[in-house]
Amino acid sequence: MGGSIKKAGFLLLTLLLALSVLAGCGAGSGSDGGSQSQSGISAAAGGGQSATGGDSGGSAGKEQVVNVYSARHYDVDAKLYEQFEQETGIKVNVIEGSANELIERIKREGESTEADLFITVDGGILSTAKKEGILQPVESAVIDSRVPERYRDPDNHWIGLLTRARIIAYSKDRVRPEELSTYEDLASEKWKGKVLVRSSTHLYNQSLVASLIAIEGEQKVEEWAKGIVANMARDPEGGDRDQAKAVVAGIGDVAIMNSYYVGHLSRSADPEERKVFEQIGVFFPNQQTTGTHINISGAGLVKHSKNKENAVKLIEFLTGKEAQTLLSAENFEFPVNSEAELPELLKSWGEFKAQEANWAALGEYNQLAVQIMNKAGWK
Ligand code: FE2
Repeated sequence: MGGSIKKAGFLLLTLLLALSVLAGCGAGSGSDGGSQSQSGISAAAGGGQSATGGDSGGSAGKEQVVNVYSARHYDVDAKLYEQFEQETGIKVNVIEGSANELIERIKREGESTEADLFITVDGGILSTAKKEGILQPVESAVIDSRVPERYRDPDNHWIGLLTRARIIAYSKDRVRPEELSTYEDLASEKWKGKVLVRSSTHLYNQSLVASLIAIEGEQKVEEWAKGIVANMARDPEGGDRDQAKAVVAGIGDVAIMNSYYVGHLSRSADPEERKVFEQIGVFFPNQQTTGTHINISGAGLVKHSKNKENAVKLIEFLTGKEAQTLLSAENFEFPVNSEAELPELLKSWGEFKAQEANWAALGEYNQLAVQIMNKAGWK
């Protein structure tokens, strides 16, 4: 009797844990736009919730592991974790969730956390994680030599892995690239009824607006946001890819979206999406001024990591030329390691001027960005 009750209790616990993982993933899609239609737990995680060996990473005879709490949801990440396992014998356990949930979880777990690495897609959130005191410095000459300083936390609490640009996609039929110039210009009269952009509830827009606040100040951005709302072709709906689709459908002429989605459209299994890719042009705004807004995916080393060496090894692996080349080829993000090769599409875009890195500002001005967008009526 006692045995079966115990067993039932164990099953219930297992079920609750499984549910909490699923809940994390569901919410997690919000942090990266629901950009990937894959199941929540990466292949490398093996469906296991508990990160085994988390309490004794270095001791002999124990399985070597590294436990990753990730807000990224891309197939290529799982592929690389498997490759890392094969090369090093270190098992990668992945727990996915939204970035904010994962930060809260690491805080709550405190010293007993099993997390070794925190991975997410926004420089503001990475800076916030540092501010919350859940990270510690990564010490690795290999990483320092591979990843330029502008793509790392000043104290190496987190290391950038890839960047993405928030570009303007335009209708090749109706817009000449010479007519485009800056994000600011999209708020001018000439784009009335032609601008497509997703909701202000999404982090991609919040970080874009936060970056503009850091550069231009609150007042100017407030006016700009009002101008954008006045120029919207429709109330915001859908994700970044849906804005490109709406350009091709003739709903608007220009769309603000992340660069890698253009890559995903280019090799979509859906011929309609490939057609969308063919009919849009990619424009990098603010080339003569402050640079195109970029954001960064990065890995933070968790303060109470029990497998620190393995965690640093995984960052070294992910910033290596081979992994960086594969990440860029499959997810169309820009590598941080300049030795990595770019896929043809990214090469075809050429070099571009990016905003000066100010990752902490994305976090610091997040609330203000949300307020400004709300006030402007940006749904
Ligand atoms: Fe995304």
